[in-house]
Amino acid sequence: MRADYLIIGSGVAGLTLALKIANYYPGRKVVIITKSEKGESNTKYAQGGVAVVINEIEDSFDKHIQDTLIAGDGICDPEIVEMVISEGPRRFRELVLWGAKFDKNPDGGFDLGKEGGHSENRVVHHKDQTGFEIERAILKQVGRTKNITILEYHFALDLLMHDKKCYGVYLLNENDGTIEVCEAGYTILATGGIGQVYGHTTNPEIATGDGIAMTYRAKGRIKDMEFIQFHPTALYDKTSSDTFLISEAVRGFGAFLRNSAGHRFMFDYDARGELASRDIVSQSIYKELKENQEKCVYLDCTHLNPEDFNRHFPMIYSHCKSLGIDIAKEWIPVIPAQHYLCGGIMVDKNGKTSIEHLFACGECSRTGLHGANRLASNSLLEALVFSDRIFKYIAGRSLISLMLTYEFPAWSTVGKAEIAPDYLKQKKEELQLLMRENVGIVRNDADLIAVQKKIVDLQEEVEVKYHKHKVTTPLCELRNMIQVALLIIDESVHRSKNCGGFLKVNDCLIS
Ligand code: FAD
Ligand code: SIN
Repeated sequence: MRADYLIIGSGVAGLTLALKIANYYPGRKVVIITKSEKGESNTKYAQGGVAVVINEIEDSFDKHIQDTLIAGDGICDPEIVEMVISEGPRRFRELVLWGAKFDKNPDGGFDLGKEGGHSENRVVHHKDQTGFEIERAILKQVGRTKNITILEYHFALDLLMHDKKCYGVYLLNENDGTIEVCEAGYTILATGGIGQVYGHTTNPEIATGDGIAMTYRAKGRIKDMEFIQFHPTALYDKTSSDTFLISEAVRGFGAFLRNSAGHRFMFDYDARGELASRDIVSQSIYKELKENQEKCVYLDCTHLNPEDFNRHFPMIYSHCKSLGIDIAKEWIPVIPAQHYLCGGIMVDKNGKTSIEHLFACGECSRTGLHGANRLASNSLLEALVFSDRIFKYIAGRSLISLMLTYEFPAWSTVGKAEIAPDYLKQKKEELQLLMRENVGIVRNDADLIAVQKKIVDLQEEVEVKYHKHKVTTPLCELRNMIQVALLIIDESVHRSKNCGGFLKVNDCLIS
């Protein structure tokens, strides 16, 4: 198989890049491969919205830049921050032109929400289902674009590397188990996040860090993996293993965080109260829970107008209702959950990785925008800006091809047995528990080093299985998640200074 442009992932990053390059070159072949149904992605679940400066009277690029730098706690790349934020309004207008609908005020202007760490209202949104609406609109455009092919249920196994350059991927067709060589003029990773490494996460099942693990195996540079973002307010629901998010926009709308005694504790930790940045709110909840030996804290919406609440957050309202929680009368139980990876595949300002012909955008990439803690609703923005940067960089460059001079070896499956699904499930759960218990909101070196050894042992065991068995998506995902876990642990051990979402306490006392 050959693609002129091969994009791995059908979230906002991959789809918007595909659209742009396909429209620029109607005669060239753009292939998107995606391991699940085409709409399934972290993007689909985005609630709060896209942070963008469109009210230039009260807001400014400078304010958004400052908020991003403060949230990132000294680790952001200021040049990238300025670039992303100042390109934001143009990228937002493109979304609108592609047909994505954003909520408006009665005066016809866009309704701007507020979230933690933002000094102004600047989050454009579609109720509490912004990602679903964006994904819907772009997929519709992609469906109309003749030179884009989407291969659903196709899993990228590894990069095709020759002479330290990337020429595509090995591709598992999940429908029939066959493995193909897919060569490409340019390969772009848009494989999203890593939430499943922790299990307790707002991310869907697809978020297993495949692009990061593939790049690492190909000796590409990975950075800032210790900066895991925990969202403060995932619904605490003992009856379900799925983790439903209660958007930060709910706090922006006026909800209070209370402990079980009813105390509005956030002001004990930060003058911004419930609207402190996400790292601070999650760490504060962690401390409250430890001190009070409680399982959850509460979001109190009882003082808010229920009709207004329902109009802004219909999905959250009805989800709570389905669990018997009437938000007008009862507090919503919440706890922090893994939500986002600030680090990832290191890229420059054009989305180029350290491997030639390989690009990355979206959550799998580390651009320098987020530093040690992402500002709320800056992720969709980053994906939009970097997919555009990659488009502008590769458009006008000649396509790379090795086909006439080198043939990649076929992937051998001869004589290999099927692996038992129960084994994979058990090992995945083992990994997730180890990560939750030892590499969470607060870490310490002794636990990190002990868990590193356990996960290295697990990696050795799974590598043996991997080489003896037929590859399947769950087997490869487990292998990738183990690799990602080790990258997080390694960078956590090496980081000596706490900042943003990274908190290591070696004397068991949390100040
Ligand atoms: P994704 O949207 O995750 O897409 C990744 C794609 O890659 C998927 O199609 C997946 O199937 C595919 N893929 C992965 N590995 C492989 C493989 N090996 N082979 C083939 N295909 C593969 N951010 C904001 O800015 N604002 C918000 O309001 C917001 N709310 C959020 C709410 C929730 C519940 C979650 C989970 C995240 C939220 N985020 C938000 C974060 C944001 O949604 C994501 O960071 C962003 O959508 C990532 O987009 P992406 O295109 O990089 O990856
Ligand atoms: C949310 O709606 O709280 C998520 C926003 C984000 O992840 O940026």
